[in-house]
Amino acid sequence: MNATKILAAAAIFSLATAGSPQAFHSGGVAECTGCHSMHSPKAGGSYLLIGTDPSSTCLSCHMVPGNLTPSSYHIATADADMGAGKSPIQRTPGGDFGWLRKSYTMTIRSVTSTEYGQTHGHNIVAADTPFVADPDNVTAPGGTFASANLGCESCHDPHGGVRRLSTGVYANVIHTPGANNAPVIGSGSYNNSAAPAAGQAVGAYRLLRGLGDSSQGVVFSGVAIAIAPSTYNQSEATNQVRVAYGASGINTWGNWCATCHPGMHSSGNYVHPIDQSLSDAVANNYNAYVKSGDLTGSASTSFTSLVPFAENTGDIPTLQAHATNTNSYRNGPGSSDKVMCLSCHRAHASGWPEALRWNMEGEFMIYQGLYPGTDNAASSYARGRLAVETQAAYYDRPVTAFATYQRVLCNKCHAKD
Ligand code: HEC
Ligand code: HEC
Ligand code: HEC
Ligand code: HEC
Ligand code: HEC
Ligand code: HEC
Repeated sequence: MNATKILAAAAIFSLATAGSPQAFHSGGVAECTGCHSMHSPKAGGSYLLIGTDPSSTCLSCHMVPGNLTPSSYHIATADADMGAGKSPIQRTPGGDFGWLRKSYTMTIRSVTSTEYGQTHGHNIVAADTPFVADPDNVTAPGGTFASANLGCESCHDPHGGVRRLSTGVYANVIHTPGANNAPVIGSGSYNNSAAPAAGQAVGAYRLLRGLGDSSQGVVFSGVAIAIAPSTYNQSEATNQVRVAYGASGINTWGNWCATCHPGMHSSGNYVHPIDQSLSDAVANNYNAYVKSGDLTGSASTSFTSLVPFAENTGDIPTLQAHATNTNSYRNGPGSSDKVMCLSCHRAHASGWPEALRWNMEGEFMIYQGLYPGTDNAASSYARGRLAVETQAAYYDRPVTAFATYQRVLCNKCHAKD
């Protein structure tokens, strides 16, 4: 692609929705020249890519400088669009990598300390952008995957090998010599993704690697199952984005994340239970919990995207019926649904340390009915942020969604507050 064509393509893609004719990956390998250039690749790069490295190539479309509203497949905000006091803009389930660029300085008990941006999630290496390898973790905590090698392509297969067949079985043509599987007709990620007919397939959720893929030096064993609503990047001030995560056999989110973080998963290793059934007690807490002190909720309205769980099923029509961006399905968990890594963490990055979905650095998330900010009366809990920045990290929810003295969301499952 030459520069003019990329600009034209960017204009078209900004209108693209899932399954539309303007889609790019369409659940599998996209137009080769969107990422590779046969005769004028990026100088100094590899694999004839149009960017210096894989992640720079991805971000040439997935991060659009000057894009000032949450929209579609954009998952990173450029530095120029989030100066001091401004937050990253995108609100996807995975989260905006721009949080990695936001450091906050604060005074705690008279000592000045900094919460560094790099603690906010997965530091992807993208030389054409500001994103650099994590200076703290040399490898994945609990594993050996080198941080210097971490990029979009570590988790997503740019060529989209994993597919879901009409039978519901998953296959990976690229990494399975001798395979003879159906072609991909489109994305399989959405509540409106077509069901593949016999002889057809759709892409795996988010083109994530799986099924024996060892190309990254680690072995992804099963697949990660979920369905997102077809519109999934929006302010959650009114309506939440509910991704319906699934779990079936070895196809669990814990196993998927444990590809690179085996020590954060293994049982008997003193880690929080993962992929474990909630049991009646925890499911009942989740369904009753409204906010600190208020356990009057009901199972039909208890879901919050700040504490998602995995449904104990891999059935795609079921998950498609539960994925929504309009609050049309807000049911909480049953006792066989599961706690997973993504119950507490976002996959890309968040406004909080360790890519957590809520702030764990302090006992109060909300204080005196305020989102803590250096600009208000709750400043002792602000951690160097303005109140609007705190609110952005909760995807713009009104502060009234919580108690006036709201404690951490571990309580959604444990009700200890
Ligand atoms: C979404 C971006 C993207 C698209 C579209 C894409 N590639 Fe790639 N390709 C990559 C990346 C990134 C690499 C670097 C290796 C890796 O990370 O898997 C790569 C590596 C390769 C390689 C060398 C390494 C290997 O895996 O064999 C070949 C050959 C290749 N691509 C062919 C193709 C062809 C043919 C098409 C179109 C049918 C295509 N690619 C479409 C991103 C893409
Ligand atoms: C030429 C622009 C372009 C490039 C380069 C690009 N993408 Fe995309 N990407 C899109 C568009 C447009 C969509 C939404 C439509 C679609 O899924 O086809 C999208 C969607 C996606 C999705 C969601 C797909 C689904 O079915 O759920 C993932 C994941 C993704 N991209 C990852 C990547 C990765 C990883 C790379 C780099 C290896 C990359 N993209 C490179 C334009 C691009
Ligand atoms: C550590 C693994 C990992 C890395 C690295 C990663 N992703 Fe993702 N990505 C995921 C997972 C898991 C999801 C699904 C999140 C969910 O639904 O909760 C996802 C979701 C997405 C989506 C759908 C929107 C969203 O945020 O939910 C896009 C687009 C995407 N990724 C693109 C990228 C691009 C581009 C890069 C590199 C700049 C990248 N990803 C790096 C794991 C990763
Ligand atoms: C392809 C390998 C890979 C996969 C898959 C992967 N991670 Fe990571 N993860 C890493 C690496 C490498 C680091 C260290 C670099 C960093 O912190 O940016 C890391 C760091 C982290 C951190 C610490 C972040 C910080 O800033 O200190 C958390 C939390 C995390 N991963 C959670 C997850 C979750 C949850 C999943 C599954 C959705 C997952 N990871 C999947 C490679 C991976
Ligand atoms: C119940 C919530 C919860 C679940 C479930 C959870 N984590 Fe965490 N994780 C945390 C918290 C809180 C931290 C912050 C520090 C701490 O308490 O260890 C953290 C820290 C981390 C770190 C950084 C550790 C370090 O040494 O820097 C990684 C990596 C990580 N988690 C990965 C995972 C993976 C992978 C899974 C699933 C296999 C997972 N977590 C499941 C809450 C959770
Ligand atoms: C999505 C629901 C969920 C969330 C959110 C959650 N937990 Fe849990 N937690 C569980 C389940 C399920 C168990 C296992 C059953 C039990 O012990 O009640 C558990 C067990 C525990 C245990 C007992 C472990 C043991 O070995 O006995 C502790 C302590 C704990 N959680 C702390 C936390 C903390 C701290 C957080 C917030 C960072 C958190 N949990 C968030 C579901 C959750």
